[in-house]
Amino acid sequence: MSSEGRSQERGGNGRKTTIVSPSNIAFIKYWGARDLESALPENPSLSMTLRSCHSRCTVEHLASEGEHEVRWRPTGGSLEEAPPHFARRIVEHLDRLREWAGRGGRFRVATENSFPAAAGLASSASGFSALTLAVLGALGEEVSDAKKSELARRSGSGSAARSVLGGYVQWPALVPAPDGSTDYAFQVHDAAHWDLRNVIAVVETEAKKTPSLEGHRRAPTSPYFAQRQEDLPDRLDAVRDALEARDFDRMGAVIEAEAIDLHVIAMTSRPPIFYWKPATLAVLETVRNLRDDGVSAWATMDAGANVHVLCRPADEDAVAERLASLPEVERIIVDGVGEGPIEEDSHLF
Ligand code: DP6
Repeated sequence: MSSEGRSQERGGNGRKTTIVSPSNIAFIKYWGARDLESALPENPSLSMTLRSCHSRCTVEHLASEGEHEVRWRPTGGSLEEAPPHFARRIVEHLDRLREWAGRGGRFRVATENSFPAAAGLASSASGFSALTLAVLGALGEEVSDAKKSELARRSGSGSAARSVLGGYVQWPALVPAPDGSTDYAFQVHDAAHWDLRNVIAVVETEAKKTPSLEGHRRAPTSPYFAQRQEDLPDRLDAVRDALEARDFDRMGAVIEAEAIDLHVIAMTSRPPIFYWKPATLAVLETVRNLRDDGVSAWATMDAGANVHVLCRPADEDAVAERLASLPEVERIIVDGVGEGPIEEDSHLF
């Protein structure tokens, strides 16, 4: 029997939809919001959508009233009821999407990640992108890419707004959509434009103590925040130009400086936030050593201790081997630019 058939037996009025959505790594970061509630950023960010690090999410729309059901599969485990701290933001987003669609009923949701959650590997980006697209599918709602991005952003995870698209993605756009909105993400180049790799040095798998949301809130208290805002338009132009020209070293230098600036701002916020661990510094030093040895590799970090090392395909093995040899590195994940979310026929329940 098809899974759709099973769903109807249980009283579902919609179809079950499963979406696999990748995570992304920002070259220019979202750090600081003009409206934190709605995840409206101070500055445009630009990211590369990944291929391997992803969330998978199945959503079923049920006609009955009552509470949503949220299950998750912790790494290596089996599907179980999600703990309240994890389910809360999902439930809020389900309510938001149901209201947007003007529908009743409730949702049954299951989700899993291919990578450790909340360790600077943007699990909320892939998670909320997958959830939003799976809800749209389960409700049979067809919307534009701009709308998908806007709805994913309203989860409160700005980076989720970029994960609904593949390749190289900017958010928000600088050009208004027909409805006047500029708060959506758009694809700058597709994945085929440039095959870049991201070797992730995992040095920490525990959830970070200070969520990105709190980092955005504190960012303007850093004396360096205003300077970064001033530098960002030129920095975004530099990354866009180098991306267009496929000039890796020009782009890499800007990306690495941008990541260090974000962490300087975090460390000088009031109260300060230290995402880096000693192992982060060891990886950053190794990346500089790789460059001294003629291997073109550039580092970036999100709000966590793990380091994403960008390189060209020809250097991927050398970078992965060198990083894996560091005793501080728990695990290496080799990833690269990807084409964005896909729908799957098989479901998590
Ligand atoms: C440092 O508010 O989108 O990763 O939902 O935790 O991914 P998450 O955070 P969000 O802020 C992202 C912060 C960042 C930079 C970036 O991805 O742009």
